[in-house]
Amino acid sequence: MKLTEAQRLQFEQDGYLFFPGHFSAEETRMLTEAVPALYAEREAWNVREKGSDAVRTNFAAHLHSEPFARLARHPRMVGPVMDLFDEQVYMHQFKINGKMAFEGDVWQWHQDYGTWLNDDQMPTERAMNVAIFLDDVSEFNGPLMFIPGSHRKGVINAQHDLTTTSYPLWTIDNALISQLVDRAGGRNGGIVAPKGPAGSMILFHSCLVHASGSNLSPFNRVAVYLSLCAVGNHIRRFKRPEYIAHRDFSPIELLPDDCLLKPYPVDVPWKNGLPESALRTSLEPIEVTA
Ligand code: SIN
Ligand code: MN
Repeated sequence: MKLTEAQRLQFEQDGYLFFPGHFSAEETRMLTEAVPALYAEREAWNVREKGSDAVRTNFAAHLHSEPFARLARHPRMVGPVMDLFDEQVYMHQFKINGKMAFEGDVWQWHQDYGTWLNDDQMPTERAMNVAIFLDDVSEFNGPLMFIPGSHRKGVINAQHDLTTTSYPLWTIDNALISQLVDRAGGRNGGIVAPKGPAGSMILFHSCLVHASGSNLSPFNRVAVYLSLCAVGNHIRRFKRPEYIAHRDFSPIELLPDDCLLKPYPVDVPWKNGLPESALRTSLEPIEVTA
């Protein structure tokens, strides 16, 4: 799938593109139905909310669940990212965020590239976030919020927050967020929150400032977040475990467009559990061969 010139310009200006209903109800159901079994697993790849059993985020499902392995190779998801970068991409990170009814906690204001730079030593911001809704998203269940155009600030100073939620994050302070929102239009469009049916997709720039509130509604807000990195821009350090920041830099090979509906064979190397090697970390830079 290719982007139009108007979409490219809009992405440059706003830092995101929203595709409501991008995947059909039938396609989305193949994914949604696989989530409860994944969330029930007692593995390191399930991070639970602080003081609760609800899953905040599940990592690396594309390596242990066939439906998600097919999504990771979907041309309607990967195609536009390759088109924007004009380069092949690999999977840097794969999350299924719960934001479960009544229990889903906040994600503080942050840029993802801040983490990828500080922790993983990813050389540049040539990596893209893709969000795919597995539940309908409304104003009630903690929609993702963006500050439009904030990606144009580049990498912003951030603090490593280890205490607010169960997941460490490089977060941006409130004074700077107020300035960015003001510059983006204040009460008139300085914050946006794309809402839509399950199956909707958002592409957003790795420097776009984003956050989400807690979910006090009785409606889950499960969403997949995939981070695709241009292959030449792969990370240079394995400080985080492999189930969080991936180490296989080979380009994604696309499946046909109907891959969520038909059982195309896919490799799921972690189907029997997390290998011990995926927990190993190092502060040494990796060797890069030209
Ligand atoms: C994220 O920023 O990675 C997740 C945000 C959310 O799930 O709302
Ligand atoms: Mn994020």
